[in-house]
Amino acid sequence: MKIALLGYGKMGKEIERIALERNHEILMRIDSFEDWNEHIYDFLKVDVAIEFSTPATVLDNIMKCFSANVPVVVGTTSWYSQLDTVRELCIEKNQTLFYAINFSVGVNIFFQINKKLAQLMNSHSEYEVYMEEIHHAQKLDAPSGTAITLADDIISTLNRKENWINNLDESGDVLGIKSVRESNVPGTHIITYESANDMIEIKHTAKNRLGFAIGAMLAAEFIAGKKGIYEMKDMLF
Ligand SMILES: NC(=O)c1ccc[n+]([C@@H]2O[C@H](COP(=O)([O-])OP(=O)(O)OC[C@H]3O[C@@H](n4cnc5c(N)ncnc54)[C@H](O)[C@@H]3O)[C@@H](O)[C@H]2O)c1
Repeated sequence: MKIALLGYGKMGKEIERIALERNHEILMRIDSFEDWNEHIYDFLKVDVAIEFSTPATVLDNIMKCFSANVPVVVGTTSWYSQLDTVRELCIEKNQTLFYAINFSVGVNIFFQINKKLAQLMNSHSEYEVYMEEIHHAQKLDAPSGTAITLADDIISTLNRKENWINNLDESGDVLGIKSVRESNVPGTHIITYESANDMIEIKHTAKNRLGFAIGAMLAAEFIAGKKGIYEMKDMLF
């Protein structure tokens, strides 16, 4: 496939490595608004775009893909307040969008385990639940998008939790989340259920960024020749 990398930072470079290993061609690399000027004609030849840029630039890049009929895989986070509008536009314009808050296959399995555990805990109110997420110090958002998804899944499954807050001291009907920022941590999420007598912890640790890059590459291959909106569950389960 001929690929456009929209965002050529840490993730863009990792995806490039995987794409080349899988015999794809990187036709263009966009790392700023200005980069578009020299690549506007190349974009017409692209089979799929993979977007890992910034919350401030992702919507403009998605719109460019929709306008040029280029299927797009979106990994950038913190734009989901606009998700409904983007989904509507995608359908209206008969375009192709694959988005995921987390492209790691392991994290998506972890999402399912989290929901199952919350379901089991509905009949065990002696357990308090809380969450910790650890990421590299450059990460701007807290809690992480992955932590928010995990928290939303707990709230919608576990009857005794109504909301989450970025503060571990909370309990009652509020799920406490602690965000820790340390150097060189790609992403760790720990969910703990604790009673007076024991603790159950489920934990996902990303060892590197490769897992996200492979998932995004698989998503790009998955949407080739398809129309519509896709998420990880459509590809994995
Ligand atoms: N969904 C996932 O699985 C997943 C995994 C890792 C990171 N992310 C997200 O992906 C995004 C990028 O992560 P990163 O670690 O590569 O960040 P990064 O800061 O290393 O890279 C972002 C790049 O975007 C570039 N950029 C700026 N303006 C642009 C524009 N108009 N068009 C294209 N690129 C532009 C920047 O120059 C920078 O190189 C973040 O939002 C991050 O949270 C998602």
